[in-house]
Amino acid sequence: MQVKPGEPAQVDLHESWRIRDVVIPTRLVLAPMAGVSVQAFRRQGRRYGAGLVCSEMVSCAGLHHGNERTLGYLRIAGDEHPLAVQIFGSEPAVMAEAARMVADAGADIVDVNFGCPVRKVTKTGAGATLLDDPDRACEIVAAVASAVDLPVSVKMRRGLDDGSRTCLDVGPRLVEAGAASLTLHPRSAKQMYTGTADHALTAELVERVDVPVIASGDVTSHARAQAVLATTGASAVMVGRAAQGNPWVLREILEEDAAEPSREEVVAELVLFMRETVRELGERKAQGFLKKFYGWYLGRGRFPRAFKAELTQLDDLAEVERRLFAAAPGGRFVLVRLEDEQPTADEVTLDLPISIYGGG
Ligand SMILES: Cc1cc2nc3c(=O)[nH]c(=O)nc-3n(C[C@H](O)[C@H](O)[C@H](O)COP(=O)(O)O)c2cc1C
Repeated sequence: MQVKPGEPAQVDLHESWRIRDVVIPTRLVLAPMAGVSVQAFRRQGRRYGAGLVCSEMVSCAGLHHGNERTLGYLRIAGDEHPLAVQIFGSEPAVMAEAARMVADAGADIVDVNFGCPVRKVTKTGAGATLLDDPDRACEIVAAVASAVDLPVSVKMRRGLDDGSRTCLDVGPRLVEAGAASLTLHPRSAKQMYTGTADHALTAELVERVDVPVIASGDVTSHARAQAVLATTGASAVMVGRAAQGNPWVLREILEEDAAEPSREEVVAELVLFMRETVRELGERKAQGFLKKFYGWYLGRGRFPRAFKAELTQLDDLAEVERRLFAAAPGGRFVLVRLEDEQPTADEVTLDLPISIYGGG
């Protein structure tokens, strides 16, 4: 999509689009984030308007070895669809096996991670390092694409080093190998999360491939989403850090003039998130997992800094809830409404044993 200079960029974020035969109802995608994208986060993202949600990256080696915790990542709820599950690894055959497990678990899309810059992952030959080994990257995509009937997407960085344009060469080859969509986070692996995402590169990638491209990086507002979509021709924008403890940003990106949440809404969403996370991970694991979310939900000037600090000192989640409701009593009524609107357990696909469900 080209915009003439001076012409306001207007793209309808509510427009549906497709990755092969998977219909995605809005042009807003919730990013995969390790340690964040639990089921509660994804379901919340769908409620607030994300057209597609994605699991955090799942180790194909962990799936291969039947690691219980890794298998727990394949639990999918009925109200998450459309959902992509992301896998990472370096062996085509093991990635293909993992993709079959992802398909069996009920995902709509298998996403392949060629973007993770973290040493623990790259030293195994997985994640962003595969951008420097395009033959192997293509073998992986081809193996995964022939293992499943689902569309296969790839998420990648611009390349390993600053200023790299590797993604522009590798991207079209990945499509030839079978990728039905590409997501580009146009920072180098070396940059991690510093500097800015260079979406001029996203625009170049869009020109070079005939599959939908999703633009990831620094999309934090309606105006930014509009600008990225209009100037790159991407099919959708992906939102990551801005949505941490802040589902309201998704509504703002879609609606522009969406209202800031009240304190009651913030408390109700946080408590719902806590309860859902306990169900998913078990109480003990959830206690530590949730601490970073207190700051995310209660920050942005919504509650005093000291209150966030106070909650992170607590392990007892019932006590955290009590203090949250003491700070915003009306939150209880909002929570009742939210819980009423949630599908009942029967509507949620529980396709893995309860031990995995509890042990996460
Ligand atoms: C805590 C965290 C964990 C992430 N984990 C993943 C991951 O598992 N897989 C992935 O492809 N990208 C991962 N990313 C990258 C995001 O999906 C996204 O591309 C990046 O944060 C840029 O988008 P943003 O500016 O909207 O945050 C992660 C990012 C963060 C901040």
